Amino acid sequence: MKIQQQNFESFYGVLTVSPQMHRFMELVKRVSRTEASILVRGETGTGKELIARAIHQLSPRAHKGFRAVNCATFTSEMLASELFGHVKGAFTGAVRERKGLFALADGGTLFLDEVAEIPLELQSRLLRVLQEQSFVPLGGSVPVKVNVRFISATHRALRREVEENRFREDLLYRLRVVPVFLPPLRDRVGDVEGLVHAFVIRFNEAMERQVESISDDALESLLLYRWPGNIRELRNVIEYAFAVGEGPEISLDELPPELRGEAPPEDDLGRKLTIKESERESIVAALSRTHGHKAQAASLLGMSRSTLWRKLREYQLLV
Ligand SMILES: Nc1ncnc2c1ncn2[C@@H]1O[C@H](COP(=O)(O)OP(=O)(O)OP(=O)(O)O)[C@@H](O)[C@H]1O
Ligand SMILES: [Mg+2]
Repeated sequence: MKIQQQNFESFYGVLTVSPQMHRFMELVKRVSRTEASILVRGETGTGKELIARAIHQLSPRAHKGFRAVNCATFTSEMLASELFGHVKGAFTGAVRERKGLFALADGGTLFLDEVAEIPLELQSRLLRVLQEQSFVPLGGSVPVKVNVRFISATHRALRREVEENRFREDLLYRLRVVPVFLPPLRDRVGDVEGLVHAFVIRFNEAMERQVESISDDALESLLLYRWPGNIRELRNVIEYAFAVGEGPEISLDELPPELRGEAPPEDDLGRKLTIKESERESIVAALSRTHGHKAQAASLLGMSRSTLWRKLREYQLLV
């Protein structure tokens, strides 16, 4: 396959040609204009942070600050200090006042990444900030008014976290006024191929090696792979190929071992796929290989066109 510039709709760095993602973007555009708290769910590497930034850029708050915090990387005390800040003399060593993220994001957007990992005792304090739109810095006594729009992200099913008493239900409802789900790469028809073009073009600009094409068997294995690490993994695979290979064509032996292997497909839980799941994946792969041409995809899959249509409806793969 020859590498060609793609006609992507440019959307704040989110590259996609897939109908699933176009539907997703329409929703995102609509909710961006509101003040609603948004919870972005999706597997690792699907672009949750990219989407959070896009929402901010599309919102009336775009000219104000976007602040992000990864709730998984702090201890409870450190996270509290990041969020609330502290007054001078709040504790030994607090020689001057320090603004927290609630204050810094005033008027703008605060992105709570990995929100499921917030410790329970902090969850109730965060809930209060959401309810009252004010907070008290550590060591302080006077509440400070803030106007912050919250966007959160998680790869977990927060419902289950609630059921297992690890996440407060009332906080879930506050954060998830609008839930949005970013589909995994393997469900985005046409995107593996589209992104391969885009990343090769990007690396051609940055690296000495100039890639003009991808061999048929290499493309085939890229299209059939399950991409557990999603777009981040795809980008890394192309970078790997640039690094280990040479010449104008990326060949199969320049792809990392997991793409060359014959290991049976498993999902993230290490579970074997059900027949329906494998069928859905074969259909997505066939549509990708035929650039969405349904008659050709049906013949690749060995099914009639009407069967393919029925299954497209059943698996919600239609635009
Ligand atoms: N549709 C896309 N087009 C181009 N680049 C993308 C797209 N989606 C994600 N990326 C890139 O992939 C990488 C991972 O995206 P991001 O960090 O937003 O994912 P994430 O869902 O937050 O992952 P994690 O759960 O691991 O934090 C980033 O480099 C991002 O720029
Ligand atoms: Mg992230």
